[in-house]
Amino acid sequence: MSKEKILAAYETLAVQYNALIDHKPHNAYYDRPNTLELIPAVKDQKILDAACGPGKYAEILLAEGAEVTGFDISPRMVALAKTRNRDQGSFFVHDMAQPLGMFENARFDTVICALAMHYIEDWNGPLQEFHRVLKPGGALVLSIEHPFFEYTYFQSERYFEIEPVKAVWKGFGSPVEVSSYRRPLEACLMPLINNGFNLDRIVEPKPVPEFEKFDPKHFKELNEFPAFMCLRAVRKG
Ligand SMILES: C[S@@+](CC[C@H](N)C(=O)[O-])C[C@H]1O[C@@H](n2cnc3c(N)ncnc32)[C@H](O)[C@@H]1O
Repeated sequence: MSKEKILAAYETLAVQYNALIDHKPHNAYYDRPNTLELIPAVKDQKILDAACGPGKYAEILLAEGAEVTGFDISPRMVALAKTRNRDQGSFFVHDMAQPLGMFENARFDTVICALAMHYIEDWNGPLQEFHRVLKPGGALVLSIEHPFFEYTYFQSERYFEIEPVKAVWKGFGSPVEVSSYRRPLEACLMPLINNGFNLDRIVEPKPVPEFEKFDPKHFKELNEFPAFMCLRAVRKG
């Protein structure tokens, strides 16, 4: 699977994704409240938002007094993040699979990466870079697709493998095929431990009550089985 296909999908999705992101239930009332809960303190913190999309996380973190730097592989997403956040924060185009050479060591208090690690086949490179640009004791906060959800959703028969998968997204205008990598639980957690992090929190989130108004069917389902998993890992000494 090529990164060009993922990039092309997000270039197609970007405008509608941005238009819906404020209230799209899986983002607004499931992912964001549970992931933001893992950022210990925000005011005056230097936060790197990796794969920032249209800058909704950045908008919330900036409003709470953080200094936010965001990047995304999609130039349209980056343009939307800049527009959404006007003159606040700083946003640029970058592929998370490549080194973050523009940042010195220990530049950030927190790195957040929401709903994007599944576009990366080998997590070691990005995790080594997140570790390097974090201050010792700084937190890496991730939200990922829950490995058990992916295993059933993609009807995998190869649990132990990291395998390319595809889904057709219909919730953002015309259907768009989105490719990603499904992986087992061990391959979600061990790369953190192997790359200098202490795993600090694992959350199998539940939707917040507002979700039910927008999408009662998925509200019920997500209260019975998780689709995402939120993780906080702390950079060792
Ligand atoms: C589901 S969206 C999440 C956006 C944002 N984090 C949020 O939660 O609102 C996934 C984002 O990951 C970006 N992305 C995918 N592969 C990437 C890569 N290799 N490097 C940087 N960004 C990437 C996409 O362009 C897209 O904006």
